Amino acid sequence: MDSPPESSKLKTENSLARQGAWGVGFSYRFCVHQEVMRSAGMFDFIEIPTDDYAIASRRANSDPDESMVQAATARFPSVAHGTLLSIGTAAPPDPVHLEEVADFVARTPISEYSEHLSFTRGGEETIPGFISIPFTDLGVAAAAENIRHISNRIGLPLIVENVSYHFPIPGATMNETEFLRNVCDAADCGLLIDITNIQINAINNGYDPHQFIRDLPGDRVMHAHFCGVTEDHDGYLFDTHREPTTKEIWQLLEETLNHTDLRTVILERDEKFSPFKEILDEMWRAKEIFLKYRPAKAPTTFSPPRYAPNPDARPANTHSADLALFQNVLVSVLLDEQLGKAVAKEGETALRHTGLGADERRIIAEIPEPRRELLGRHARHVKAQKANRLATRH
Ligand SMILES: [Fe+2]
Ligand SMILES: [Fe+2]
Repeated sequence: MDSPPESSKLKTENSLARQGAWGVGFSYRFCVHQEVMRSAGMFDFIEIPTDDYAIASRRANSDPDESMVQAATARFPSVAHGTLLSIGTAAPPDPVHLEEVADFVARTPISEYSEHLSFTRGGEETIPGFISIPFTDLGVAAAAENIRHISNRIGLPLIVENVSYHFPIPGATMNETEFLRNVCDAADCGLLIDITNIQINAINNGYDPHQFIRDLPGDRVMHAHFCGVTEDHDGYLFDTHREPTTKEIWQLLEETLNHTDLRTVILERDEKFSPFKEILDEMWRAKEIFLKYRPAKAPTTFSPPRYAPNPDARPANTHSADLALFQNVLVSVLLDEQLGKAVAKEGETALRHTGLGADERRIIAEIPEPRRELLGRHARHVKAQKANRLATRH
């Protein structure tokens, strides 16, 4: 494996990056750059959305010369957050995207990098939504190997985030908090706990969010995301990052501060930034809660975690071929409407041609169809839109 670029080591020596993140942060977006800079005293640090900069086509539409993000990272301690490395896929991350991320990390002064503990890629296909990793030893092993591989390449600690999902994968051999603990132990990494995702999964999948927080491996919890939720008429919750934070989520945030070693909380909004005063009001409220449990400034003993890359390390390549095939077939079921209908009608026999074993076929057939289709319909819609855009361009 290549060692991380020399410039990445220099960037982590930047004084703001060296401080690390502590306190109450905000998910910086280029569209609110002026507002963030004008209210700089409100933000202890910012979280940069990697995809807007690492991917050339996205960068062209966001901040082409990166002048805004450079100004922001010169002003605030910064961390970064990506969505496309598909840590839970039983195969190495897409090498092209991993290089894009490594380049971004090399040119941007950030102290930590986080990604979602989920899989979005099966074979050549990518799903625009997070799929739960199976809560099994194979799921733990796939994630841990990819976390180590990515950390080694980018030269920063990779912190993983719990996702909201429309369905957990049937056949789990551990619960989700055990899964989080096992991944962190196997990869020796930290957790970014998304409080909103805990609330969404708890309501949609019927568990107690307070117990979930008490069961977390508290010493692994470093950062937390929070924001509001969108609710449909049946009370089903969606993760849209556009609504004000609810009473329940404020309460869960406080419990997380109480039960874990959390050192930052991050208001994570993607939309509805106007009026910006509402964002600032939420920052104030988060600050008040944070200060009940933590000092305003990082203790002098605090230093952000470092990752010492091993230039001689090679990917162990121990990914399970069975898990990779399972994930490929599940992604096909989501993207192929006819196949999805056949599974709903005939059960696992509709998947006999896939090469999957009977147990794995049954696991896919056991996923409740309405939940599977919530993701499947969205994925097919996004794929069709992409194909249309390409067709009009040619
Ligand atoms: Fe996230
Ligand atoms: Fe999040």
